[in-house]
Amino acid sequence: MGHPILRQPASAVPDPTDSAIRALVEDMIETMVDANGAGLAAPQVHESLAVVIFQAPPERAPTAALEGDEAFDHTAPLTVLINPVIEILSPAISYGWEGCLSVPGLRGLVPRPDHLRYSGFDLNGHPISRIARGFHARVVQHECDHLNGILYPQRMDDLSMLIFTSEMRHGLPQMAATSNG
Ligand code: NI
Repeated sequence: MGHPILRQPASAVPDPTDSAIRALVEDMIETMVDANGAGLAAPQVHESLAVVIFQAPPERAPTAALEGDEAFDHTAPLTVLINPVIEILSPAISYGWEGCLSVPGLRGLVPRPDHLRYSGFDLNGHPISRIARGFHARVVQHECDHLNGILYPQRMDDLSMLIFTSEMRHGLPQMAATSNG
């Protein structure tokens, strides 16, 4: 947090099939796995390019049984998304705890739209277009925010909900009643 690359808009990738992009993505996957993260954006490894990776495993989906498309929307395999575009599909906001490799040692409770469509390209230059809900929608927004120079604390509306990971042993704080306006 504070590095100039994390504050600036990332550049579009002219050719998603470029071997340099594939090498960048391999480095990003290694970094994400090492950090046990759910996603990573290229500016976090000091490349100001519009490339993100993320996954939304079934464990992060709601425990209530979901069926058909709705269950599908909540999960994503490890995805490489180049030149992403997000379209918010519903004004509904949900709160969830987030962490970030670029903001080490902290967790914050972040409000975000809960239902969106994202599109972009994979490493073969093929278009990707998916509907996302819940954690899946959250991780995509978190990573794409990095491409616009935004870190999750900037999305928070209550900084008393920014805590040290080391204090999570006390339990996560509860939000005061929020007004819906
Ligand atoms: Ni992050």
